[in-house]
Amino acid sequence: MRPSEYDFLSVFLLRSSGLTLGADEEYLLESRLVPLAQSWGFLGIPELVETLKKGTEPRLATAVTAAMTAEETSFYRDRQSFEELKTVILPALLQRRRAWQPLRIWSAACSTGQEPYSIAMTIADHFPALWTRAVEILASDIDSEVLTRAERGIYSQFEVQRGLPIQLLLRHFDQLPDQAGWRIKPPFRENITWMRLNLRENLARVGKPDLIFCRNVLIDFEPSTRQAVLGRMAQRLAPDGFLVLGAAESVFGACDAFQRLRDCKSAVFRPTAIKSVSLTA
Ligand SMILES: C[S@@+](CC[C@H](N)C(=O)[O-])C[C@H]1O[C@@H](n2cnc3c(N)ncnc32)[C@H](O)[C@@H]1O
Repeated sequence: MRPSEYDFLSVFLLRSSGLTLGADEEYLLESRLVPLAQSWGFLGIPELVETLKKGTEPRLATAVTAAMTAEETSFYRDRQSFEELKTVILPALLQRRRAWQPLRIWSAACSTGQEPYSIAMTIADHFPALWTRAVEILASDIDSEVLTRAERGIYSQFEVQRGLPIQLLLRHFDQLPDQAGWRIKPPFRENITWMRLNLRENLARVGKPDLIFCRNVLIDFEPSTRQAVLGRMAQRLAPDGFLVLGAAESVFGACDAFQRLRDCKSAVFRPTAIKSVSLTA
């Protein structure tokens, strides 16, 4: 790949998704974009770049962004986050909300749906009154293809074996005939609202969530984008709400609107304006 093509793709990806390529990630670009170029009938990346530059194929621009923003996910990924959702976050939120008030949860880069479904299963299993009464789960992603898969709620044997305990598989999924995989039961699919949303853009459409799960996506953004996204999330999140990041992520050095919750082992944050960041203090 020519340096000019690498540079063009770096700027394109930064603008379209906030993804930053390191100095030497030609291999990553080639491993993901050569198959895409071939599937579009191009001879290789140079032709793909030429078409992108002309701006005549918006579907290609979306496909390139999707190919580069890895969709890796699994059920109950970083199990500790879900343990603390159950033992710390939901009890604290429920204590402060009146029974009729809906609890709003936003899974901000939901990929193929395992994260919002894991949140929904945690609530259904441990807070049944909340599940049947008043919880609103919004799940968004920049990639419309992963959203279509998420909404369908069908997972292969391999996918359900990653992180999903067998008893939850049997309780919450229906096995499809002819080894076509497993489909999560209708109440889970019906109780989640799916939205295509680029985190780099205005977040007004997500309303005022009480809890944001934004895991394993900010890590790919350059520092200034990370800072801007966290700042906008701080404006959206309820003042007594919670932000959950991925195990390897932090707001440290990026945003002082959030502070880490001392009671949690996973990456749980609260708005700084909350006086104490310990629930037990
Ligand atoms: C590694 S997956 C994380 C999925 C899930 N949150 C988890 O932790 O298992 C990252 C997701 O972020 C999405 N993504 C990347 N850039 C984005 C952006 N600018 N806005 C919204 N979603 C984005 C990708 O499409 C992908 O589905």
